[in-house]
Amino acid sequence: MIVCEPSGHFFALHTAHTTYQMAVDEQGHLLHLYYGPRTDASAVVLPPHKDPGCWPNLLPQEWPAPGLGDHRAPFFEPEFADGTIAADLCFESAEVRPGKYSLPGLPAFWAQDPQGETLSITLTDAAGLTVQLLYGVIADCDLITRAAVIQNTGSAPLTLRGVPSFSLDLPRKDLDFLTLDGDWAYERTPHRTPLRPGVQSVGSVCGIPNHFHNPAALLCTPDATETSGECWGMALVYSGNFRIQAEQSNAGVRFAAGIEPYHFAWILAPGESFTTPEAALVYSNSGLGGMSRCFHTAIREHLIRGKYRDMSLKRPVLINSWEACYFTFDEEKLLALARAAKQSGVDLFVLDDGWFKGRNDDTTSLGDWAADTAKLPGGVDGLCRKINDLGLDFGIWVEPEAISPDSELFRAHSDWALQIPGRATLPIRHQYTLDFSRDDVREGIWQQLTALLDSCPIRYLKWDMNRSLANVYSAALPAARQGEVYHRYVLGVYDLQQRLIDRYPDLLLENCAGGGARFDCGMLYYSPQIWTSDNTDALSRLTIQYGTSLFYPPCTMGAHYSAVPNHVTGHVSDPQARMAAALSGTFGYELDLTAYSQDQRAELREWSAFYQEHGALIRSGTLYRLCPPDGFGSAWAIAAPDSSQAIVFAVGAVLDGRSLPLPFAAQGCYEAEIRQTGAETSRCVQDGEALRAHGLPLPNLHSTLPGYICYLKRSSHS
Ligand code: DGJ
Repeated sequence: MIVCEPSGHFFALHTAHTTYQMAVDEQGHLLHLYYGPRTDASAVVLPPHKDPGCWPNLLPQEWPAPGLGDHRAPFFEPEFADGTIAADLCFESAEVRPGKYSLPGLPAFWAQDPQGETLSITLTDAAGLTVQLLYGVIADCDLITRAAVIQNTGSAPLTLRGVPSFSLDLPRKDLDFLTLDGDWAYERTPHRTPLRPGVQSVGSVCGIPNHFHNPAALLCTPDATETSGECWGMALVYSGNFRIQAEQSNAGVRFAAGIEPYHFAWILAPGESFTTPEAALVYSNSGLGGMSRCFHTAIREHLIRGKYRDMSLKRPVLINSWEACYFTFDEEKLLALARAAKQSGVDLFVLDDGWFKGRNDDTTSLGDWAADTAKLPGGVDGLCRKINDLGLDFGIWVEPEAISPDSELFRAHSDWALQIPGRATLPIRHQYTLDFSRDDVREGIWQQLTALLDSCPIRYLKWDMNRSLANVYSAALPAARQGEVYHRYVLGVYDLQQRLIDRYPDLLLENCAGGGARFDCGMLYYSPQIWTSDNTDALSRLTIQYGTSLFYPPCTMGAHYSAVPNHVTGHVSDPQARMAAALSGTFGYELDLTAYSQDQRAELREWSAFYQEHGALIRSGTLYRLCPPDGFGSAWAIAAPDSSQAIVFAVGAVLDGRSLPLPFAAQGCYEAEIRQTGAETSRCVQDGEALRAHGLPLPNLHSTLPGYICYLKRSSHS
């Protein structure tokens, strides 16, 4: 519910459990008052104005503007034609609208009336600038979103050098900053540190968010745990260069995020406007777990679109050819893998990298999206038909944003690659990046993609992206507009993915970027699942999936059962441990099943059936992180909202003999089906009261990395 007082000078955004308040002060500035537990108090207590020389530094500003006395780190930087960087934005008007706003060309959470509402507040600067702040409220999910539309209302061009999506001034200093950081194969490891005076930030200048930092972060009170304490979480709905910063000053903490200002300069001609990406905010006073569950529900119900938004709809169990074949295969090898996969209960066969003209390693051919007939004599359609004849659906890998210097596409259109004139272009993984800011470049790739997708029934597309942007210069833009290329590139990716899902509404799209380098709310608007990491080792996945789950729900995480020793880490873990990790996402296989015996395939068939039987619960259930990963093990549960069923996962000998507390409201009696290392599947009855009081007892599992998966279903007699 949005309250906009008749005076138009006080605003409250209410969700089920939270309230966000703002007010206009006597100078006409929009101040932030409150973001915390729900309150209906509407008494406006404006922060006291201090000495006129320094007060802007102390005031909680809803849209901090530079140049006029607020000396905290500027994020909004409008440069006027006279070279000044300053803005004095005063309240002009406000409007409440039913339904949540959408953003043209940009991903955004969506919610129609009555689930969503919009508050639009217009601020103006007489020098020729208008900022329309858009607030979306999705009350049931405790989600508040913010974006801004910045318009040049002057008579000369204006350059935007920095644009926040949101900024939140909190009146306290003792907060921790938690970010998700890592590297290739080690994405989204949580790091939590107490804030100290000054600016602490994470971000990306790689053109994509990249493996190093995720565009989602939170502030929390030092006492915050999984189940208690206050958290302010923020996820950017954006997939390019970003910055998230927290500044501790005398006034408290300013938490802000938006497009990274490095190499960003967007020119607005008179009358033109720029729309920022959206930021999504959640406040929780029930710890990290409470915050995560709000994001999970909002992402499942108000971000993901298309037919796979229905979490009860089966997602295919897939086999991906990458770790089974890499670049070395022919049609017979693929068909043998497909036959073994069919016997293992797989529904869909995905042909990964290496299938197109001359692609025998990673040095060539990106951009030439037609079959290598030396490997696939009948073409992609011929292979697809044979896979279909085995009773499997077919999917394929592409990397549409990439171009190899050694490719027909590059020989024909070398200017399509991002390259700086007069400088050598840097190949990363032997490849360049196409200039997706250009319509003609995207159109060329679109023609190839549609030819491929129209050639046979392709049910799944893995869209990969394996290179950070470098040599960022667009041949289609003048020198003054080169600061627009990074953002225009991201808009180009969104444009092509939107065209794809419009034309192929039944296609299951999975995004990927060298593992999980582009795992964010922006990409989830287009694809319901994203490849989480190239590291499928069970122990590593405990941390990667734990970190990812702070913001993103299990149903979005591509997770595959793979071979041991693991191809990335060399670790060996028990099948149950690998299954626990893989079953907690969108399940599939990534290994050479032709090396498996008939008995082993029969065992895998049972796991595939387990996923198909319980997949709807895994995708739509409520996640409880029971023990955070500590390098030795971890435990978590996914429960139905009515507690009628749940799956408890535990990995690691460190949990041996412990009782796992179950936070969901277990009632009555539960039939339990237990699969664990070193034992046959067993069944027993668990008393709900006892589970609540004492937790779920774990047996002693004797192995280095054992696994335990217990499915609980309330008995019909209870
Ligand atoms: C990176 C992806 O993460 C892998 O799964 C695989 O598709 C390779 N690229 C192929 O080049």
